[in-house]
Amino acid sequence: MKKLKVCIIGTGSISDFHFKSYANNPDIILHGIFDYVTERATQKAAQYGVSHVYPSLDEVFKDPQVDAVSICTWNNTHAEISIAALNSGKHVLVEKPLSLNVEEALRVQEAVEKSGKVLQVGFVRRFATNTKVLKSFIDAGKLGEIYYAKASCLRRIGNPGGWFADKERSGGGPLIDLGVHVIDICWYLMGRPKVKSISGNTYSNLGNRGNVENLSFYKAADYDKSKNTVEDLANALITFENGASLFVDVSFTLHAKKDEINVKLFGTEGGAELEPELVIVSEENNTILNIHPQMDHLSFDFEKAFQSEIDSFVNSCLTGEKPVAPIEDGVEIMRMLEGIYEAAEKKCEVIFS
Ligand SMILES: NC(=O)c1ccc[n+]([C@@H]2O[C@H](COP(=O)([O-])OP(=O)(O)OC[C@H]3O[C@@H](n4cnc5c(N)ncnc54)[C@H](O)[C@@H]3O)[C@@H](O)[C@H]2O)c1
Repeated sequence: MKKLKVCIIGTGSISDFHFKSYANNPDIILHGIFDYVTERATQKAAQYGVSHVYPSLDEVFKDPQVDAVSICTWNNTHAEISIAALNSGKHVLVEKPLSLNVEEALRVQEAVEKSGKVLQVGFVRRFATNTKVLKSFIDAGKLGEIYYAKASCLRRIGNPGGWFADKERSGGGPLIDLGVHVIDICWYLMGRPKVKSISGNTYSNLGNRGNVENLSFYKAADYDKSKNTVEDLANALITFENGASLFVDVSFTLHAKKDEINVKLFGTEGGAELEPELVIVSEENNTILNIHPQMDHLSFDFEKAFQSEIDSFVNSCLTGEKPVAPIEDGVEIMRMLEGIYEAAEKKCEVIFS
């Protein structure tokens, strides 16, 4: 079978997970790299043995040898680069979020439909082992109808700064950065119901807590504590047409005792916690059972999930199989994120028709 030649665009922190996972996949050749910052691109090319460091995005798109691209750039460039890549006949794996807003997302969808190429959205949590195991239980009917989900991803001090803290380039704070993952995973496991209405709030009360001492946290390369234009905290209640609902809260900064991540689903036959550790809740013989699957990784395992995500993308490119995280799901998640920001700004419920 022909090997797929891949180019990685944007060579910051997350690109390492793409490089390593492609390097482990026997069906691809890591062919090229592009980043604004040429030294970074050159360093990664040496590290991962990549032959082509392109001088511009145009050169990537013009090269007929490039079959597929992984887009690991700032959020404000995802849509534009995806569209240009698709229009030049390349398959696309685009990091989350798909875009800054629904209007951009719909333009990407149009380009996918016109080009007939594969586009997979970087909803990496769909590929985690704990998610796959839980999904197999859900598909077997063990939870019945899932009518409520609750997800929290709270950091007490964890605004990475740099472009993440610049609304122009990121599109927002913890909602678009962390909320995108936990909303998607709940929605995916709930069976992707159609959104009916959204209420939400965003808060900017604490800033980035750049004053805090003696506690370290991840900082972007260009961290500057004086620069921050994104929210600290967002919460929302999303109601679906089938009557199910999802409550979510996410923060970069909060006066919380500790950081936490929780993802919980509740159905008519059983319940489950996906994070912080997979547990399935059931009832038998008038007794409640908490079932603890025996697995190496009960919570999200970054490396394995990325490997599975990349392998699945490569398989879709080579076989034409529909991606596990297709464009229409990227669009629907953008509708929810935009809906939450809109509800928060207008201070009223947003109704979808
Ligand atoms: N799936 C996940 O769990 C996950 C985790 C972290 C980040 N991400 C996503 O990955 C993307 C990158 O995040 P990061 O943490 O690697 O950021 P980063 O700041 O470490 O790296 C971004 C890189 O992109 C480059 N860049 C920006 N715009 C560019 C353009 N138009 N053309 C070429 N290069 C460009 C920058 O120079 C930088 O090297 C973001 O969209 C983020 O949301 C996903």
